[in-house]
Amino acid sequence: MKGIILAGGHGTRLHPVTLGVSKQLLPVYDKPMIYYPLSVLMIAGITEIQIISSPDDLKVFRKLLGDGSWLGISLSYAEQDKPRGIADAFLVSADHIGDDPVALVLGDNIFHGAGFGTLVHRAARNVEGCVLFGHPVRDPQRYGVGELDERGRLVSIEEKPARPRTNMAITGLYLYDNRVVEIAGKLQPSERGELEITDVNRAYLERGEATLIPLGRGFVWLDTGTHDALMEAGQYVQVLEHRQGVRIACLEEIAWRLGYIDREAFHRLGRRLAKSSYGRYIMEVAESG
Ligand code: G1P
Repeated sequence: MKGIILAGGHGTRLHPVTLGVSKQLLPVYDKPMIYYPLSVLMIAGITEIQIISSPDDLKVFRKLLGDGSWLGISLSYAEQDKPRGIADAFLVSADHIGDDPVALVLGDNIFHGAGFGTLVHRAARNVEGCVLFGHPVRDPQRYGVGELDERGRLVSIEEKPARPRTNMAITGLYLYDNRVVEIAGKLQPSERGELEITDVNRAYLERGEATLIPLGRGFVWLDTGTHDALMEAGQYVQVLEHRQGVRIACLEEIAWRLGYIDREAFHRLGRRLAKSSYGRYIMEVAESG
């Protein structure tokens, strides 16, 4: 399965913070935002990942993450000259996807919870149709919203409905079989001129091939779209990391635990950052783990 991280958009709800820098590069406590969605793809076992962004921002993502070899994975980059909607990602990344199924994660989505890696890893095996992940929220009208019947089957999907039928938001992590490229290619732009991911999901739903996995109360899905939400996400990570002494979305640690890099390489990555608590954490884990 191939992976895609969509890190585009103008981040207008975060202005002026995002006038000079891409939203997905902003810090969420101790690491750049994109580390979080990248960690999701890594724990799902995906090692060939393409990052999509604007030509200007791609330079910085490249500087930050390189070709991925330091993490034992392969990272490539693709340009989207202007935001054309989430579903445009499948057209931009068609060559990268090739004949494989694909996982798309939005570059500003943060997931956390015990067993999340196993859950996604399992769902990513043998994807037929599409697999969506839902999470209850207080303000579903801001998101794609899914409705399940009493047997847990997905029966409707709506994008930012004024009167949501449920409080189950559809998160920014999507798994598709290879037909997604063809489906995205046939979409008509919405009223706001974008290729909507919800239209892709509806196409699968109409064929009876869309599944929604509800993430229960043990999981956290965080928004980073406004000043307050970004701050709160940072505080969540800070509190958790302080209390538990473990780091969330530490890419180097994930790479080591998955066996993509050896202990020596892992330790070296920590030494490179040794002036920060993040770097010292890596060194400590490498020495004790
Ligand atoms: C997008 C999708 C929406 C989804 C959300 C998740 O909305 O269109 O269906 O629920 O991402 O983050 P956007 O954040 O682009 O408004």
